[in-house]
Amino acid sequence: MGMGKTNGVSKHEIPSDIPAEAHPLSEEPSKIASNINYHAQFSPHFSPLKFEPEQAFYATAESARDRLIKQWNETYLHFHKSDPKQTYYLSMEYLQGRALTNAIGNLNIQDAYADALNKLGHQLEEIVEQEKDAALGNGGLGRLASCFLDSMATLNLPAWGYGLRYRYGLFKQRITKDGQTELPEDWLEKFSPWEIVRHDVVFPVRFFGHVQINPDGSREWVDGEVIQALAYDVPIPGYKTKNTISLRLWEAKACAEDFNLFQFNDGQYESSLQLHSSAQQICAVLYPGDTTENGKLLRLKQQFFLCSASLQDIIFRFKQRKDGNIPRQWSEFPSKVAVQLNDTHPTLAIPELMRLLMDNEGLGWDEAWDVTTRAIAYTNHTVLPEALEKWSQSVMWKLLPRHMEIITEIDKRFVEIVCSTRPDLEDKINSMSILDNNPQKPVVRMANLCVVSSHTVNGVAQLHSDILKADLFANYVSIWPTKFQNKTNGITPRRWLRFCNPELSNIITKWLRTDEWVTNLDLLVNLRKFADNEDLQSEWASAKMAKKQRLAKYILDVTGVSIDPNSLFDIQIKRIHEYKRQLLNILGAVYRYKKLKEMSPEDRAKTTPRTIMIGGKAFATYTNAIRIVKLVNDVGAVVNTDPEVNSYLKVVFVPNYNVSVAEVLIPGSELSQHISTAGMEASGTSNMKFSLNGCLIIGTLDGANVEIREEIGADNFFLFGATADEVPKLRKDRENGLFKPDPRFEEAKQFIRSGAFGTYDYNPLLESLESNTGYGRGDYFLVGHDFPSYMDAQAKVDEAYKDKKKWLKMSILSTAGSGKFSSDRTISQYAKEIWNIEACPVPFKRG
Ligand code: GLC
Repeated sequence: MGMGKTNGVSKHEIPSDIPAEAHPLSEEPSKIASNINYHAQFSPHFSPLKFEPEQAFYATAESARDRLIKQWNETYLHFHKSDPKQTYYLSMEYLQGRALTNAIGNLNIQDAYADALNKLGHQLEEIVEQEKDAALGNGGLGRLASCFLDSMATLNLPAWGYGLRYRYGLFKQRITKDGQTELPEDWLEKFSPWEIVRHDVVFPVRFFGHVQINPDGSREWVDGEVIQALAYDVPIPGYKTKNTISLRLWEAKACAEDFNLFQFNDGQYESSLQLHSSAQQICAVLYPGDTTENGKLLRLKQQFFLCSASLQDIIFRFKQRKDGNIPRQWSEFPSKVAVQLNDTHPTLAIPELMRLLMDNEGLGWDEAWDVTTRAIAYTNHTVLPEALEKWSQSVMWKLLPRHMEIITEIDKRFVEIVCSTRPDLEDKINSMSILDNNPQKPVVRMANLCVVSSHTVNGVAQLHSDILKADLFANYVSIWPTKFQNKTNGITPRRWLRFCNPELSNIITKWLRTDEWVTNLDLLVNLRKFADNEDLQSEWASAKMAKKQRLAKYILDVTGVSIDPNSLFDIQIKRIHEYKRQLLNILGAVYRYKKLKEMSPEDRAKTTPRTIMIGGKAFATYTNAIRIVKLVNDVGAVVNTDPEVNSYLKVVFVPNYNVSVAEVLIPGSELSQHISTAGMEASGTSNMKFSLNGCLIIGTLDGANVEIREEIGADNFFLFGATADEVPKLRKDRENGLFKPDPRFEEAKQFIRSGAFGTYDYNPLLESLESNTGYGRGDYFLVGHDFPSYMDAQAKVDEAYKDKKKWLKMSILSTAGSGKFSSDRTISQYAKEIWNIEACPVPFKRG
């Protein structure tokens, strides 16, 4: 092997017996090695003398991409000829993470690639680490979209994703002694080997301008600024199938004509490139700050850009498919197209489809409305009022004048119909209408527009869907009782077990005597009968230990803190938000630390050693979230260096939580915390990932926790806290001064106040936990109420962990009960019950 050369050029060089030859479809390791070499030489991005891990990654990815492109072209052609009804998933976020392991894993050529890389002097494990995460999302909603794509492809469904190609994804989090700092996440710094730019797929997207009335009375949106949407396709392979679908990401650009050469030559550089810079801003970052008017306008532009480009593309394909020469009936559109809105972010798809149908295609209102409402469905992901989007009417009129006309008309017709048919709802109509015409702050309520205009509205876990029906959308339910559905979320078992935890996967395959569970996760239930089996338990324990060791190494590398793999690994990773209650976790840790300090060494030695890991990003403008990150770090700095206690407790903040970090943390975890205030977490999906990897959950009866507990059995779940029905009364009680805090809660807060974790002023954060003290909403998230039952549940965890056999059994039962939470199940239900689409598998050809 040509490693360790000292000629100053490269430590790695490609062995001379591996020719640089194209073998794009070979499954044979030596030919794959040649194909990788071919890409290193003939698709060069670096000096040909270099073949370090980074160069090897790009050449390997390009080699795998050859195969993806073939399948992807065949899939496109097959869909084109078969002309099935197709789903288009519109989402402002996709948290794809890394793609190499997933691509070669789904193509079922992982071992051949590992061999090929060996021949080239590299290890697959090291090469995959070179890839940057595609972090075009923020949290659960974006990762759900990515899991859904994997399932759509695996189930051979005619379905595509549409999104935006942000230049910078969600920020990179750096932790210093002052807490969090945010840095740009430059996932395209070099380039992404997975995307294929489609110079043949470009659509104009207009902003601003005005509505012109033509002599025939038709309306037309004219003038303003026109930006081009250029498609970048990311091929998404299904697992062990030929189907490879597309995630189409739009990039904004200006045309050559938009460059004012005259001005440029006159030295007016900025104004000569004005439209170019305006285009660049659109896809510059995911979630541009929206505290300023400009920021709000930019975000709205992003949303419209996604909707307009995607719908023009969908309509183009609808016309072109089958026989592009025969004009299609528009009434056929809903039997060929299903559009799913991932939350309210792509709501503008509704007025945009209406506009395209009426103004471009000449349909009348009723026909356009019928087509639109039969094609579009909406998923709600949150009941938090601040997350339900509302856009200022004046900003909307300025940016999208024709759409505002259409929205106003939709609203007018809706209100008229309700008033004439449902007098009982008359006093509710102000809250049900789409336009909120409050003169102080007139806004468009996007969720209302979605509910009124979609054929189906769904929540993402049973409890959440029930809350939507009983509460947020209750008035609409009385008009359209069958419009509302539940689709409990799911996760892809490929990424979240098969590929991130091969150790456990192999054990499962061995005991089930089949690997079919990878596409039929319900089969995991068959592990139940072996839950007491000592052989399985011991294999299970060693797989977990291997993953804990890997995690301990990771933590040491990124934080410098050494953690003991024999301690209980307890993890909470998710966006930092007060409703997710990282504060409850850290207050529990503070209390634990204080008690450990007070104990005699003998008593301390009887406790269950624990490593608490917390990770997640805090929005820069969300002050309390930023303070929580600082607190966790400050507590860790004291606890981890306290020699009396640190073999019994460690507290680690895991920096820069993202998909790849989750892939290391989840398999190595034994307990995970899903402890939101009941009724506030719509579903949660990391709970499913942990449970699938045999990790036990401490949690409230919230979101999908409820269903996980049902599936794995109440005995295997550490439950605590108020239920969703109790929450409103508890909040009232607090307002009325009826809440009596538990002494342990007071003690933990007091300990922080005493300066035990440094001099930073934590008072504002702690005040948020007091009832009605003028800071915010006065323990709105009920940390104080749930603290005692949380501590009791934690004591049960400590006890249970002492009984290794019992713990292992619970762990096996967690995995065994996780079958329901496959995104394959979720997507099959969407396909049948919302989209009405069927599988369209690309046939396997001989030879
Ligand atoms: C949002 C919700 C979360 C849910 C996810 C996917 O992020 O907050 O509860 O799991 O969407 O539906």
